[in-house]
Amino acid sequence: MDSCDQAHAETTTDISEANIVIETSRPLPVANRNDGLSILKGLWKERSLLAALTLMNRYVGRAFRITLPVFQPAVFVGPESNRQILVTDRHQFSWRSASDPVVRLLRQGILVVDDAQQDTLRAIMDPPLQRKNFTPHIDEMQHYADVALDRWQDGETRDMLVEMRRAALLILMGVSYRVDFAPDMDALWNPILELLEYISPGLWILWADMPRPKYRNAIAAMDGYLYRIIRERRAALESGAHVATPGDLLSQLILAPDMNDDLIRDQLLTMLIAGHDTSTALLAWVLYLLGMHPEEMVAVREEIDAVMPDPGQPVQLEAIGALHRLDLVIKEALRLYPPIHVGNRVAKTDLDICGYRVPEGTRVMYSIYLAHRDKEYWSDPEQFCPERFAHGQEDKRPPLTYVPFGGGPRNCIGAAFAQVESKIVLVRILQRFELELLNGAEIHPHMGATLEPRPGVQMRIRRRA
Ligand code: HEM
Repeated sequence: MDSCDQAHAETTTDISEANIVIETSRPLPVANRNDGLSILKGLWKERSLLAALTLMNRYVGRAFRITLPVFQPAVFVGPESNRQILVTDRHQFSWRSASDPVVRLLRQGILVVDDAQQDTLRAIMDPPLQRKNFTPHIDEMQHYADVALDRWQDGETRDMLVEMRRAALLILMGVSYRVDFAPDMDALWNPILELLEYISPGLWILWADMPRPKYRNAIAAMDGYLYRIIRERRAALESGAHVATPGDLLSQLILAPDMNDDLIRDQLLTMLIAGHDTSTALLAWVLYLLGMHPEEMVAVREEIDAVMPDPGQPVQLEAIGALHRLDLVIKEALRLYPPIHVGNRVAKTDLDICGYRVPEGTRVMYSIYLAHRDKEYWSDPEQFCPERFAHGQEDKRPPLTYVPFGGGPRNCIGAAFAQVESKIVLVRILQRFELELLNGAEIHPHMGATLEPRPGVQMRIRRRA
C-alpha cells in the first residue's frame, strides 16, 4: 500500500453504517534526528535540492516537509497524492506565489495564472497545439531539425545539450509561431540562457524579494524581440500578407478577442520557455541514454532504417507512428529524467492531502522524478529498460503513476507537439549521423529550469555513408 494511502487509512474512522467519516489529519513528517544526520551526510556528497528530495523520500517516505528556515514546502510522491493535487482538489491550489521569479517574468502567461483567466487562455492556446492542427506542418519540423543538423561536420565533437536547444528553438518558433528564428538565434542565445537561470532554483527561494538587476538586459532583449514579432505579424495579417492557419499560435493569439500586446507577449514568452527548454532536456537525455547503451542505439537506428529506407524522402506521420522502439526509449527517458521533475502549487486554504495536514499558504510540490523511481511501482527503477513500457505494461500501474507531462485538466498543453517533435529530431539525427558519447561517466541530472544533463552531453559525430 502507498504510504500516502496508509496515512489516510490510519486517520479515517468510519463511525456508522451511514458512512459518516471523521478525518483527523496529521502534520507532515519531517526527518528525525538520526535520519536528519544521514540526510546531511548524503547532501554533503551531492549538494543539490534533487539529492535532498531523494534522501527525504528514502528516509521519511512519500509525504514530507522540508524544514529550511524560509523554505518549507510540503512534498508528495505517488499516484494518490497526484490525483488529489492534479484532479480532485485542484481548485484548492493556486499555481505559484506572486514573488516567484517565474511569475515575475511570465506575468500573465498561461503557465502562471489561475481560474477563469487560465481557462480563457487555455481555450485559445490549446487548438494550435492539437495534433490535427500542427501535424500538417511536420515537413517544417523536419526542415528546422535539418537546419540545426546541417552545421554538424564529420568527425567533430558537439555538446548535445547545446545542439538540441538550437533544434528545439528553431522548431518551436518555426512551426508554432511560424517565425524563422535562425537570424535572431545568436543575438538572443545568451538572453534566453539568462532567463532560464533567472527562473531556476536559487537563492531567491530564501529571499523572495531579492533584487536581481543582472537580468534586466536579458528581459529587455527578449521583450524587444517578442513585441517586434507581434507588431510584424499583426501588420501582415491586416495587409493579407500572412494567412493564419489553425496551427499558427502567434496569429491565433493576435486574432483572439481581448488580447493586447502585453498579454500576447506573456503567452509567447511562456511557450518559448516551457516549450523549448523541456524538449531540449528530453532530447539531450535520450541521446545520453542511447550513448550509454550503444546496443539500443543500433536497435533504434535499424528500426528507423526499416521503416524509412530512403532518408532523402520526407518523414511521414504514419512512419513516425510505426517507430515503436524509439517510442519506448523516449518514454523511458521521460521516466528516468523527467524534464519537469517537480510540479509546484500553493495551498489556497487549509487542506488534507492523503491524511496529512497542509496549512493555507504552504508551497506544495508533487515530485515527478521520485514517483517515476518508486520501487512499489517500478521494478529496478534506476535501470534503463525501455521494454517496461512495451505491451501496454503502463496500463497495469495506477493512473497518475507516470506523469512526465503532469496530469488532470492543467496537464502539459504541448505534450503532443513535444512527442512528434522529439521523434522527428531523433529520426533525422540517426538517419544522418553515427554518434559516440565521450563523457558519459561525468553526466548527472542538474536542477535548472528543467532537469538537464550536466555538464553537457559531448558526442563525437560521424556522417553516415
Ligand atoms: C518533453 C517535453 C515537455 C515536457 C516533459 C513537459 C512537461 C510539462 C509538465 C509536467 C507540465 C505540468 C506542470 C505542472 O503540473 O505544474 C507542463 C505544463 C505546460 N507545458 Fe509542457 N512539457 C513539455 C513540452 C512542452 C511544449 C512543447 C510546450 C509548448 C509548445 C509546453 C507548454 C506547457 C505549458 C504552457 C504548460 C502549462 C499548462 C497549464 O498550466 O495550463 N510544454 N509541461
